[in-house]
Amino acid sequence: MTTATVHRAPFGSTPDGQAVELFTLTNADGIEVRAMTYGAIIVSIKTPDRAGQLGDITLGFDSLSGYLAESPYFGAIVGRYGNRLAQGRFTLDGAIYHLATNNGPNHLHGGIKGFDKVVWTGEPFQNDSGVGVGFGYTSTDGEEGYPGNLQVHVRYTLTDNDELVVSYGATTDKATPVNLTQHTYFNLVGDASRDILDHQLEIDADSLTPVDSTLIPTGAITPVEGTPFDFRTPTAIGARIGQDNQQLRFGGGYDHNFVLRRTGSGLVPAAHVLEPTSGRTLEVLTTEPGIQFYSGNFLDGTITGKGGQVYGHRFGFCLETQHYPDSPNHANFPSTILRPGVEYRSTTVFRFGGAK
Ligand code: GLA
Repeated sequence: MTTATVHRAPFGSTPDGQAVELFTLTNADGIEVRAMTYGAIIVSIKTPDRAGQLGDITLGFDSLSGYLAESPYFGAIVGRYGNRLAQGRFTLDGAIYHLATNNGPNHLHGGIKGFDKVVWTGEPFQNDSGVGVGFGYTSTDGEEGYPGNLQVHVRYTLTDNDELVVSYGATTDKATPVNLTQHTYFNLVGDASRDILDHQLEIDADSLTPVDSTLIPTGAITPVEGTPFDFRTPTAIGARIGQDNQQLRFGGGYDHNFVLRRTGSGLVPAAHVLEPTSGRTLEVLTTEPGIQFYSGNFLDGTITGKGGQVYGHRFGFCLETQHYPDSPNHANFPSTILRPGVEYRSTTVFRFGGAK
C-alpha cells in the first residue's frame, strides 16, 4: 500500500456562494500536487531539483481570488472543446451549432464559461499506485451552445513513481464534440523566477497542423523537418523562436498542435523537457493523437502570481495533450464526436524527475 497522503480543506467560495475545496496530494519522495474544485485546477506542483530542494513548477495564484479575476487557464481543465473552433461553428448530423466567439473570430476553450470556470465535485481516494482526487461535472444540454447533457470525470493520481496521472471520462445523451485537456503552465526553474526559453524540449512528432493567422488549422498536416518546429531531438525552446517564419509569426511564438507518432490507442511518449540549471525533468505520455505546445506568448507581465512573482513574456509553457484544434470542421482529422452509449476515455501522464 502506498505511503502517500491526500488532505482536503476549504479554499474559499465563488461570488455566487459556492464553496471551493482544495486537495493536497503528497508522495513518499515529497512531491506535492494541489488541486481545487474550481475549474479542476492544478494550483501547484512541487518537485525536488537535483539538490533535493522543492520548488513549485507551475504558474498560478496563491488564493481563489486570483483565479476568479483573470486567469489565462492556469492549471485548468479545458472543455467542452479545448482549443479553437473556427467562427464558433460546427455541423453535426445535419444541424449547425453556433458557439461564443471569444477569441477574435473563433471559439476558444469551451467559450465564455468553460469547464475551467465552473465548480466541480471533488472526492479524495487512495489506491495501490498512489493517492488522488476525482472531480466531476455535469454540463447541461445547451450549455455554451453544445448539444447533450455531458457527464465528465477527471482523476488526478499522484503515484509512488513520481507521476501525475490525469484520466478523463465522459458520457453524453446526444452527439457532441468533446476535447478535454489540462492547461498547466510549467516552469521547471521553480517558482517561475524567469522565462522558459532555456528549457530543452523534445516532442515526439514528425508533423504538425499548420494554422492561419487566427490560429485555425488549414487542414494540412506538414512535416516538422527543416523548420523551427523540429523538436525531434532536444532543443532549447528559445533557440529558433525568433526566426522569420510565418507559423511562428501567426502564433507570436509556438502555439501549435503537433501530430504525435502513434501506433495503436495506448499511451505513447509525447514530450520530454529538461531544465538545465535545476536538473528537473518532465515527461509527458498520452493516449491522445496531438499535443498543443504553447510557449506562453500572451504572458506580458500584467499578471502577478504566486509569491508576488510577475509573469513576464514566456515565463511558462503548456503541453496540452488533445485532439487537433477545430476537428469537427476537418473530416481528415481524428473525430472528436462523442455519441450516446460510448464512453470518452483519455489518459495523460506527467512524470517528474531530476532529483534522484
Ligand atoms: C492555448 C491557446 C493559446 C492561448 C492559451 C491561453 O494554449 O492555444 O492561443 O489561448 O491557450 O492564453
